[in-house]
Amino acid sequence: MSIRPIETHDLPFIMAIQSACPEIAQWTKPDYARVVEGDMTGWVAEEKGEAAGFIVARRVAGDLEILNFAVRPDARNRGTGAALLRASLDWGATFQGEKAFLEVRASNLAALRFYEHNGFEVTGRRPRYYSAPIEDALVLTARLASS
Ligand SMILES: CC(C)(COP(=O)(O)OP(=O)(O)OC[C@H]1O[C@@H](n2cnc3c(N)ncnc32)[C@H](O)[C@@H]1OP(=O)(O)O)[C@@H](O)C(=O)NCCC(=O)NCCS
Repeated sequence: MSIRPIETHDLPFIMAIQSACPEIAQWTKPDYARVVEGDMTGWVAEEKGEAAGFIVARRVAGDLEILNFAVRPDARNRGTGAALLRASLDWGATFQGEKAFLEVRASNLAALRFYEHNGFEVTGRRPRYYSAPIEDALVLTARLASS
């Protein structure tokens, strides 16, 4: 498994992973094309010639925001998610970011546990942030290594 920047040929695999993950924001292919074009920054975990997971992040006023993140269900629990998260946090450290943050559905207990095991803590709640179904978002934050 190797971690590398998202390329155009990854987009069909990313769309397939996203379809298998109702917990995450459902973006369009043009949304992911914007990552390749440089509007956002993203990485895939490539395994046997295809993307088994991806993460998309951006810089927001000196902080790192994780925007979308998933690993194919059959490729989970092998450290792929942690490796993708590490790639984005390392990138945040290169621009001397102070912290990384993200929102997650309050019911997504597997992701909450994953993030807490990877150095994040719950720092806020946004009531009724999500639709279909309506649900609160929890805000999770981690300090970046450079700060
Ligand atoms: C959250 C998510 C990205 C994690 O991906 P992953 O590849 O399973 O992540 P990892 O393998 O690094 O870690 C998952 C667990 O496997 C365990 N693990 C890691 N390597 C392992 C190994 N070799 N053997 C056994 N277990 C292992 C970790 O301890 C971890 O446990 P934890 O979650 O209790 O901390 C994935 O569950 C996912 O795609 N979820 C759906 C989408 C989602 O919720 N995205 C986040 C929304 S903001």
